[in-house]
Amino acid sequence: MNTVEIKNLTKTFGKITALDNLSLNIEKGKITGLIGADGAGKTTLLRTIIGLLIPDKGEISTLGFNPVTQKDKLTPLIGYMPQKFGLYEDLTVIENLRLYADLKAVPHDFDKMLEFTTLAPFQERLAGALSGGMKQKLGLACTLLGNPEFLLLDEPSVGVDPISRRDLMKMVREMINPETTVLWSTAYLDEAHSFDTAVVIDKGKVIYEGKPHALAATPQEFEEKVIELMGGYKKEESLIAKNYNYKAPEIELTVEADHLEKKYGNFYAVKNNSFCIKKGEIFGLLGPNGAGKSTSFKMMCGLAKPTNGTARIMGIDITKDPEKARSNLGYMAQKFSLYGSLTVRENLEFFASAYGIKFKNRSTRVEEIINVFGLKDYENQKSEELPLGLKQRLSMACALIHNPPVLFLDEPTSGVDVLTRRDFWNHITSLAKKGVTILVTTHFMDEAEYCDRISLFYHGETIALGTPDELKRKALRLINPSPQSSPANGEGELPTMEETFITLIKESEKE
Ligand SMILES: Nc1ncnc2c1ncn2[C@@H]1O[C@H](COP(=O)(O)OP(=O)(O)OP(=O)(O)O)[C@@H](O)[C@H]1O
Ligand SMILES: [Mg+2]
Repeated sequence: MNTVEIKNLTKTFGKITALDNLSLNIEKGKITGLIGADGAGKTTLLRTIIGLLIPDKGEISTLGFNPVTQKDKLTPLIGYMPQKFGLYEDLTVIENLRLYADLKAVPHDFDKMLEFTTLAPFQERLAGALSGGMKQKLGLACTLLGNPEFLLLDEPSVGVDPISRRDLMKMVREMINPETTVLWSTAYLDEAHSFDTAVVIDKGKVIYEGKPHALAATPQEFEEKVIELMGGYKKEESLIAKNYNYKAPEIELTVEADHLEKKYGNFYAVKNNSFCIKKGEIFGLLGPNGAGKSTSFKMMCGLAKPTNGTARIMGIDITKDPEKARSNLGYMAQKFSLYGSLTVRENLEFFASAYGIKFKNRSTRVEEIINVFGLKDYENQKSEELPLGLKQRLSMACALIHNPPVLFLDEPTSGVDVLTRRDFWNHITSLAKKGVTILVTTHFMDEAEYCDRISLFYHGETIALGTPDELKRKALRLINPSPQSSPANGEGELPTMEETFITLIKESEKE
């Protein structure tokens, strides 16, 4: 039995062919993972399956209905979580749940949801004041209400921390019944590897369809196989770093967070954040959703006022001289914060001029950055219309267009495809080698390995600070303790970064 049957489907937007004569069946009662490069057509496919987009050509049947002519019959059977889920930002967490429950005519029984999402303590908080990952979890909870027959999730785990990601997976698996079909688009290949079926699409066509295990036995190999299918990754010299036109700073400690604190009412979003970053260092601020990472970033670039403490960028106090401090840094926000109605090129030109790049150099620099970030085909598209992964590329491009000596990157790789992720890190590590200082956060634990040092941050405070290996050894001592000073203490193979993260967070919860 198939939930979806698609034959020869084509969908174009102007000159862009999003779906190209695509045929696919999606089996009932199974979880199918949808993987593909940024702009490959994943979102278009999901939206066409449920009748939000009308195809140019081809046939689709969804749960036995024609999604174009029988949309009203189909809609009540479906749970769809788009990339930007429509939470009511002015309503609280619990009010959002009540509203969606009423829309779906289901009882107000949210205890299990709140427990799974760890949102129970924040029920009365406005949805607009949740962290990025907390919003994702609430969006998924609203989508799951009413036990839909067919769940379509468009990158639900973007920005979700490693512990919550496991919980989300569990939540979906436990809350659906065996008849439910799930179509789950994701850039996390370990996630896709655990599903019943994997569908890889590229340029609007299916290039693989089958059991993930048939492609590779372990998630790591699976990632390599998927990369191969997508054309392979070849590491090249980072042109961004090569052409980075700046004078390496003389100061050694380029970034200092000095007892930063941010309080909202009685709640500490950041309780106490102190660290120093050296010139050319990659410093990772890692932690669960809601830990206070983005709030710290915002205070450190002068976008939020600390309730206590301060930060210095190249020795300049951000609270005393915000403009001067800011001129030394490039900031990529977690939430897309460019001009949506401007095109890709216009955004870059705007930032180039705002950051004082001389007129005669501007077009060369813009052209160069468009090419390096693979934005050429999209340069005249409005930035709000871009697929998520391309929005991220544009945000990264804007953050470094003026060659700043310090870069703040708040989840730069959330929502980008696996190839672009490698590209981004190639740029980041190459820039650091040139002396650029980088503060970064990520929920991809394999990326944490690229950091020179990491601060593990939780409930607004540092719970561990050190190199990746130092943190792993600390976790190992907890995993593998032994009485008194026996030599076995902390011996054995070092845990993975993900295990390290989970172990240290759980340990801090005990305290
Ligand atoms: N305006 C606000 N009013 C009340 N609480 C807020 C406000 N802004 C942020 N918070 C809270 O501060 C905490 C930290 O949020 P922050 O966005 O810094 O987390 P984060 O570590 O970046 O999480 P994520 O990994 O999900 O991005 C969260 O509990 C959030 O709900
Ligand atoms: Mg954040």
